[in-house]
Amino acid sequence: MRKKIVAGNWKMNKTFEEADELLNDISEALEAETIDPSVGLIVCPPFPYLEIASDVSDESYFQVGAQNVSDQEMGAYTGEVSATMLQYMDIAYCIVGHSERRAYYHETDAIVAAKVNQLLAHEIQPIVCCGEVLEEREANRQFEVVKTQIQDGLFHLSAEEFAQVIIAYEPVWAIGTGKTATPAQAQEMHAFIRSLIAEKYGAQVADNTSILYGGSCKPSNAKELFANPDVDGGLIGGASLNANDFLAIAKAF
Ligand code: 13P
Repeated sequence: MRKKIVAGNWKMNKTFEEADELLNDISEALEAETIDPSVGLIVCPPFPYLEIASDVSDESYFQVGAQNVSDQEMGAYTGEVSATMLQYMDIAYCIVGHSERRAYYHETDAIVAAKVNQLLAHEIQPIVCCGEVLEEREANRQFEVVKTQIQDGLFHLSAEEFAQVIIAYEPVWAIGTGKTATPAQAQEMHAFIRSLIAEKYGAQVADNTSILYGGSCKPSNAKELFANPDVDGGLIGGASLNANDFLAIAKAF
């Protein structure tokens, strides 16, 4: 059976002190609350906070992910962070192909594919983001757009490699806008993504793939989103910056 996952993408937020406080708040809240043990909880802070996140997570229930990784193995790539470095820090997950990286840093599907390869070579599970912008949805092109992102970013993998991948459907028009996809829109796209995986890798691989929803997911709407059969959790931005909201979402299954 596929895993249910709630992952927090902090993006470029929090000072060191605030990050330390949030990590400890999450850890304390996890001691007080009972989260369904079938729900995996992942925190993805900025690179400089990975080490403290990793230390706090050692004594807590959550796991740690990075928000980005280099598409190169090592060498003269100023400012980049390699999968080897993340692996050495025991980072278990990494977000790849977030729409903000696609839009502001020109990350193409080919770059996404290279980053996924780096992560898998270093035993880190990629959380691969896909999703259409508003104009594409208005032109009813959302399925075509997501299909290309999934095919070009992931379908070079073997079935065994693909089994390590987590997908996050994040409609760009819903990110940070307060405008959430309706549960029906999320379910429709998640079922479509699962059908693409089934066509390529077979029903069993598709059934085992966790597909998360992202885009203005919060405690008030998580329950109805997660109630859909193909929505296996969420990739949470803004609401992951508060321990109570983040855990309320994790309890929404
Ligand atoms: P928000 O939850 O702030 O809309 O962000 C979603 C997101 O981009 C997570 O990766």
